[in-house]
Amino acid sequence: MKKLIKNGTIVTAADTYQADVLIEDGKVSQIGINLEANGAEVVDAAGCYLFPGGIDPHTHLDMPFGGTITADDFESGTIAAAYGGTTTIIDFCLTTKGEPLKKAIETWHEKSRGKAAIDYSFHLMIGEINEDVLAELPQVIEEEGITSFKVFMAYKNVFQADDETLFRTLIAARELGALVMVHAENGDVIDYLVKDALAKGNTDPIYHALTRPPEAEGEATGRAAQLTGLANSQLYVVHVSCADAVEKIAEARRKGYNVWGETCPQYLVLDQSALEKPNFEGAKYVWSPPLREKWHQDVLWNALSTGTLQTLGSDQCSFNFKGQKELGVGDFSKIPNGGPIIEDRLSILFSEGVKKGRITLNQFVDIVSTQVAKLFGLFPKKGTIAVGSDADIVIFDPHVERVISAETHHMNVDYSAFEGMKVTGEPITVLSRGEFVIRDKQFVGQIGHGQYIKRNKFNTQLVNKDEATAK
Ligand code: URP
Ligand code: ZN
Ligand code: ZN
Ligand code: ZN
Repeated sequence: MKKLIKNGTIVTAADTYQADVLIEDGKVSQIGINLEANGAEVVDAAGCYLFPGGIDPHTHLDMPFGGTITADDFESGTIAAAYGGTTTIIDFCLTTKGEPLKKAIETWHEKSRGKAAIDYSFHLMIGEINEDVLAELPQVIEEEGITSFKVFMAYKNVFQADDETLFRTLIAARELGALVMVHAENGDVIDYLVKDALAKGNTDPIYHALTRPPEAEGEATGRAAQLTGLANSQLYVVHVSCADAVEKIAEARRKGYNVWGETCPQYLVLDQSALEKPNFEGAKYVWSPPLREKWHQDVLWNALSTGTLQTLGSDQCSFNFKGQKELGVGDFSKIPNGGPIIEDRLSILFSEGVKKGRITLNQFVDIVSTQVAKLFGLFPKKGTIAVGSDADIVIFDPHVERVISAETHHMNVDYSAFEGMKVTGEPITVLSRGEFVIRDKQFVGQIGHGQYIKRNKFNTQLVNKDEATAK
């Protein structure tokens, strides 16, 4: 039915203003002052902001990894995302060498079909380039609407691709209209450092961080950026964790290369010392790239505020401490990498970023929603509040204070990496295509409401440099 959101303050990447929003048939049909209800259900948003629904460009739901499978699937993961103000996710579809891409994509459809509470789309991992893969890519784009390809430069003997694969993927993406994403760490160097540490008996979680130094991330980021310049293609660096990588992205952008970057909440607020927690608890903080020394956080915040980095992904990849993270007791290299964050992405950026004056309110919306929509072919269907756009709207109370805890979160995992952290600001009500998913902080949505979204091709005009660096 029709809904009229009254008395809220609309925030987009460009504007902040008071207006009412009328929703019909899942889309925003009117924005204006003192709109008449005319039979629409009225939703009062007094004292709240209206944000376009968050778009999480980086999730791993129901993913086999590190000898186990992530604790959150498309059901629990998308419910938790909705609680946190996210209404669209783009999940990574893993592929297997020698097998058709189509088969991998079908596997991901099977994992997600009928299970998601919010809309979702897929990125596709490219692990090898050969005639079969090249022949399939046009269909992947045209039929599946998958317009972003992910290449891993790390995880040797698992996902890692070589430079030829990356370079040829960049060329194919340029020709087909896709964005290439990289996990940028030098996997060969890390593999050596890990073996060396284990041989010396250095098995604790902290050695996960010490064997993946910032230089290894900076080197891979710089290499990927240079290859992008050479291929005259476009690149998106996922989960940027350190100054070394930020410098390489900034340098590439100064040269006019089409390079963008994402960071994640964990790198903005947690640091390497967490891996030294006793009783193996450091394993809860094992991500790749790893958490860094604290001073890197200032560099990341600065990069978000100046536009060197454009987006915030959760890199949701949850494993229980009991039974999953514990696989790495006695050998840090066996700790499944990743953590539960999908629910806390907006809260952390709002509280630590906007409230603390590091970014503006409009930048917040740009980072968690609009830039993601523009880079990944979702704009203006998603990523803004505008007439004709999907009514994916978050009614956000900027004053509520709460403490993040595993006791109260909705992810299917037995710990929170942010346990005890105080945040200000919380989604109260969340709509996906005009339907309530969260209402007064309760899940009222439906499993299976979420639709698979075919995305548009990469469009440089939407994300030119001026746009990306606009304050
Ligand atoms: O530690 C991480 N980031 N786990 C998820 C997989 C990846 O590399 O993004
Ligand atoms: Zn309805
Ligand atoms: Zn990664
Ligand atoms: Zn990831």
